[in-house]
Amino acid sequence: MSARDLQNPQTTSKETDWQGLIHAYRPYLPVSDTTPVVTLLEGNTPLIPVPSIAAEIGKQVEVFVKYDGLNPTGSFKDRGMTMAVSKAKEAGAQAVICASTGNTSAAAAAYAARGGLQAFVLIPDGYVALGKLAQALLYGAQVMAIQGNFDACFQIVREMADRYPVTLVNSVNPYRLEGQKTSAFEIVDRLGEAPDWLCIPVGNAGNISAYWMGFCQYHAAGRCQRLPKMMGFQAKGSAPMVLGETVSNPQTIATAIRIGNPANRKSAIATAEASQGEFNAVSDEEILAAYRMLAREEGIFCEPASAASIAGLMQQKDRIPTGAKVVCVLTGNGLKDPDTAIAHNQTKFQKGVDPTVEAVAQQMGF
Ligand code: F0G
Repeated sequence: MSARDLQNPQTTSKETDWQGLIHAYRPYLPVSDTTPVVTLLEGNTPLIPVPSIAAEIGKQVEVFVKYDGLNPTGSFKDRGMTMAVSKAKEAGAQAVICASTGNTSAAAAAYAARGGLQAFVLIPDGYVALGKLAQALLYGAQVMAIQGNFDACFQIVREMADRYPVTLVNSVNPYRLEGQKTSAFEIVDRLGEAPDWLCIPVGNAGNISAYWMGFCQYHAAGRCQRLPKMMGFQAKGSAPMVLGETVSNPQTIATAIRIGNPANRKSAIATAEASQGEFNAVSDEEILAAYRMLAREEGIFCEPASAASIAGLMQQKDRIPTGAKVVCVLTGNGLKDPDTAIAHNQTKFQKGVDPTVEAVAQQMGF
């Protein structure tokens, strides 16, 4: 920042003037001058080079992470929710409802609070990371923990929205994907081109379709000359897109993507086909290894589901063309799920140390 910028904050960069993604990408979004914009200034998240991860690939490639865990509620869902809640408000809705593995509920609750709407959320009892539950509760949503998995919750909220005056804000709401596509715009704006590969975790299969829509719209507008291969990664015990069939009892440590019957299955298949991409499965061990590697080698803390994109890249590394640019999407912040971080790190944690310099020095090996 120049001395002049410091004296006059009005002349600061685009980043400091950021007014949220609806403001930034208005021509590409289905909003009008009369749409009440409900925003927490989401978007504009960093695209961080991760050279240690690139070095693991063993050939010359550039790898970046799109750290969407830095959104206001700590996940990419904020991109979708600013649009979904603004449009719900525009239509006169007074309440929103969603099923969630955690992040959607946090974002829905926050944006509903911001917009003056009531939020109702259904979550699978016992399978939502602590931080996400804390968020939904504090933002003031009515939270119902259901004795069933995400797919069961989703079936109920769909019917609730059909029968009662509540707007469904899961990713079958088209405005969700409209908001989420802006992350693709940001990547192209930063790189000056689309990446060769986009690696992304897949659960309900909305986000992969949203990114593809974003890249295609930018391509059509002449903002990029190529389109990425869309590489979707699911957890092995919860991989309906890979298996080609519904999984009735999905299991994975990555609770955010513990989904057996993805609502956006069709558009995700179309995305993989159109982009010559694929769906592949990564094991919980691969996810945890990537989760730890990203934190220890690069200082980046994502949640386990997000690490599936890095785990997937590692699994498929022999297939990446030399010279390629790869972007891995880190969909959620690691702070969402402190339990997993504490249970699955390999760091020495010394407890019960005496409160003396001598004891600490001894522990440190001096
Ligand atoms: N990563 C994280 C951190 C998520 O929370 C989700 C989905 C995904 C990836 C997968 O995205 O569903 O668009 O394929 N979470 C939803 C929720 C299901 O309820 O928070 P997707």
